Amino acid sequence: MCGIVAYIGPREAYPIILKGLKRLEYRGYDSAGVALLNSGLKVYKKKGRVSELEESLQGVDLHAHIGIGHTRWATHGEPNDRNAHPHTSASGNLAMIHNGIIENYAQLKKELTKKGYTFKSDTDTEVLLNFIEDIQTNNNCSLEEAVRIALKRVVGAYVIVLINKNDPDTLIAARKGSPLVIGIGKNEHFLASDASPIIEYTKEVVYVNDYEIAIIKQDELILKNLGNERQTPFITKLDMELAAIEKGGYDHFMLKEIFEQPQTIYDCLRGRLDAQAGTITMSGIQKYAEQISNANRIIIVACGTSWHAGLVAEYIFEELCRINVEVEYASEFRYRNPVINKGDVIIAISQSGETADTLVAIENAKAKGALILGVVNVVGSSIARISDAGAYTHAGPEIGVASTKAFTAQLAVLTMIALKIGYEKGTLDHDRYMQLLQELDAIPDKVTEVLRSKDNIQAIAEKYKDAKDALYLGRGYNFPVALEGALKLKEISYIHAEGYPAAEMKHGPIALVDEDLPVVFVATKDSYHEKVVSNMQEIKARKGKIIAVINEGDEQSSALAQDIITIPQADEIVAPMLSAIPMQLLAYYIGIAKGYDVDKPRNLAKSVTVE
Ligand code: F6R
Repeated sequence: MCGIVAYIGPREAYPIILKGLKRLEYRGYDSAGVALLNSGLKVYKKKGRVSELEESLQGVDLHAHIGIGHTRWATHGEPNDRNAHPHTSASGNLAMIHNGIIENYAQLKKELTKKGYTFKSDTDTEVLLNFIEDIQTNNNCSLEEAVRIALKRVVGAYVIVLINKNDPDTLIAARKGSPLVIGIGKNEHFLASDASPIIEYTKEVVYVNDYEIAIIKQDELILKNLGNERQTPFITKLDMELAAIEKGGYDHFMLKEIFEQPQTIYDCLRGRLDAQAGTITMSGIQKYAEQISNANRIIIVACGTSWHAGLVAEYIFEELCRINVEVEYASEFRYRNPVINKGDVIIAISQSGETADTLVAIENAKAKGALILGVVNVVGSSIARISDAGAYTHAGPEIGVASTKAFTAQLAVLTMIALKIGYEKGTLDHDRYMQLLQELDAIPDKVTEVLRSKDNIQAIAEKYKDAKDALYLGRGYNFPVALEGALKLKEISYIHAEGYPAAEMKHGPIALVDEDLPVVFVATKDSYHEKVVSNMQEIKARKGKIIAVINEGDEQSSALAQDIITIPQADEIVAPMLSAIPMQLLAYYIGIAKGYDVDKPRNLAKSVTVE
């Protein structure tokens, strides 16, 4: 949520910042801006996409070796030029970019207003910037010192980066709750919200920790905590290739990421699952396997698509491990006073590893003594770092705003954990365990088969693209897949869609069914299949248009549906990794047919670092 980039070094800062902002645009695209220091402070900012900013700057002299840039997802203040970042301080000496929310900004603003400050924008960022400048003026101290004092008063989440007209050789940055990566080059430093703007310049990075302030010069990086004590920067080597963050010939990142799934699921299983030997090796989990086996309860916390993966995991863990599972929206869980008992295990699921609600939910649970396991995609992210243990999903960078490959990788990891725990605990017998390992091993190839239906799905998308509403129904393991299908359609095509357990449909949503309503059934052959077929009949009797995702050879369902998408047969435990894919493709092709920007759907951002 909001992307930040900064550079200091011998190269031209603007092209690096601009390219970085384009890479980070998935984090927000309401407005964009840059501030450059070169014999004075120059700030350029504009409502709209980074490309619009770029166009508006054609022919402008942007020469500078130090600069900051921002792409915004609006929180305080509507998206317009005024509220775009960077913001400048009252004196005009400082410029700042910010990702996060300053919760006590109203109080700080009141104090500053009393002192005579006026504001050019409606943002919390400008308030914080002037608060910092006010401290610097009153205490006659360095900017670094002023930032430190100011941040002690700040409630909320932030990454901030400042440049100072009076000190053109230094960037000051600080973080709490929002992500900040510093790339270390030769006589140069790169700052960004994630590693994607940095990767082509250096693979050596430092993930800044909460409550740390960075003082960055061309050839020096100093990290301090808010108590002004020096911290040792921990240098990590990036394990990511540039190709992974480029479109690679696809029209959209979303399509590329959908088609990457045979590989991403394979990468996720690789080195962990050995179906022949009958082993699952998960070093992050092993140490806690007994504690998980003996857990009274597993509480899964997540948001959005990751929450849907959690719902599938609920079915799987209860079936294979006989452990009571609860799946919680992180945003609700963090504000309740949840009962967390000794012996409870929390699993946090997150693609970005930065979702603010999930992060705080696990911080709270950790403080109450729970064991925290993270199922996270982004290596080194905040949730990964705060978790006691866990397993990365290894899906590679997911850039399309709608989550696709991260979902199936989450399912693969969660299934492996459940298989491992169930087998070690004895709730899963040897034969079934071995059979499920084979089933899981076969998933990447079966995903390839599902992807062959793309033309059929595109044709179906053309047919239903003008629908006003849609209903997605499934039962058991496929119920969360139906929820995910509805979410994908809403996000990408702006068609209102609801996901429901197929039987629950009779208790209200059936009133919506008429000859104009497309109803997507996720109806693969599993222990619920006969029941789902009855639900299809109920929809058909009311003239609803059925689009059914079914297994090859399912004549019964086929006869009830207007349109069918067939996928290979798989055990119900692993089937959601297959049935999710037509959901993604259907939403993608409907979004495309409607002419929308599927990689950057309106109002959304990839990484939701505000609550
Ligand atoms: C939907 C989507 C969101 C995310 C949610 C959680 O396509 O991408 O619903 O799943 O914002 O994000 P992470 O998984 O990064 O915690």
